[in-house]
Amino acid sequence: MENIKWGELGFAYYKTAFNVRYHYANGQWSQMQVTDDEYIKMHMSAACLHYGLEIFEGLKAFRGVDGKVRLFRPDENAKRMINSANRLCLPAPTVEQFVEGCVECVKRNLDFVPPYETGASLYLRPTLLGTKTCLGVRAVDEADLIIFCAPVGPYFKGGMAAIKALIMRDQDRAAPRGTGDVKVGGNYASSIWSLEEAHRKGFSNVLYLDAATHSKVEEFGAANFFGIKNNTYVTPKSASILPSITNKSLRQIAADLGLTVEERDIPVEELATFEEAGACGTAAVISPISYIDDPEKNKRYTFSEDGKPGPISQQLYTKLRNIQYGIEPDTHGWITIVD
Ligand code: PLP
Ligand code: COI
Repeated sequence: MENIKWGELGFAYYKTAFNVRYHYANGQWSQMQVTDDEYIKMHMSAACLHYGLEIFEGLKAFRGVDGKVRLFRPDENAKRMINSANRLCLPAPTVEQFVEGCVECVKRNLDFVPPYETGASLYLRPTLLGTKTCLGVRAVDEADLIIFCAPVGPYFKGGMAAIKALIMRDQDRAAPRGTGDVKVGGNYASSIWSLEEAHRKGFSNVLYLDAATHSKVEEFGAANFFGIKNNTYVTPKSASILPSITNKSLRQIAADLGLTVEERDIPVEELATFEEAGACGTAAVISPISYIDDPEKNKRYTFSEDGKPGPISQQLYTKLRNIQYGIEPDTHGWITIVD
């Protein structure tokens, strides 16, 4: 086990021992390669560098209460990466290859999987890059799939402490029929300006609205939105939000707990009616929202006065973490045991 101050980790790159790579050329994927090299050598004219032909995934491995190391739903990340690859006409890995690469990456870096008590985890970042040289805009048939990892703590400072979010209409994250529903680097590039603006104003995150009408809630820059009211878990349904695996899992857990689950349009004004609200994602887990400001409409929607999660968010969080850390049984088959 590495000598790391696990409890002080934030969400940042941390050098580990190995990463896993596959190369696609001549119509097929190479065998898996394992390397300690943190760098990639590629042509200066590679498609990913110019035209954003790049996609990625994010998933976590947890050291459980029983000492076992568990990966959470890697097959779901594999399927999403395949969708993203298809959308950008990049070579897609198979589900088996993706999962095998993730398992190997964790196995080679077991010393970096944080101890159970610390509440930290090992974040995996599978990245698919279109590496073929090109100058004109076109699809490419050469790619690198690289899976690296880093031990991480909470994505938002303060962990389960409630965060503030800002609605901004000056920039949208994703167009109605754009790439919002796939995990392409360009979505994050287009969110940077508004995120920085929100940070300057003292907010942790931006809540984006639908780009066509700016009347419905979509999602945060790096997490989905959910609201709770009347024993109901409500989350937006839209073709331009990223289908979050955490959100999908929370919908199942909410149903298991006897809540009603609704995936539907959420008009901005409906925010006023939620008893609790949260951001959910692999990195964010569940970050409760203290308030959302909508300065153009001169509105503040408050969900947590004391900075603490509401009771249902807390219940959902505990149940999810308990499955991930092996405290409760994995009744839905979400866990892949690595070691
Ligand atoms: N939405 C966006 C834009 C994200 O970047 C993420 C992170 O992956 C999520 C939602 C949450 O997805 P997941 O729960 O699969 O990590
Ligand atoms: C994740 O939650 O895995 C993400 O990819 C968010 C990320 C942009 C930090």
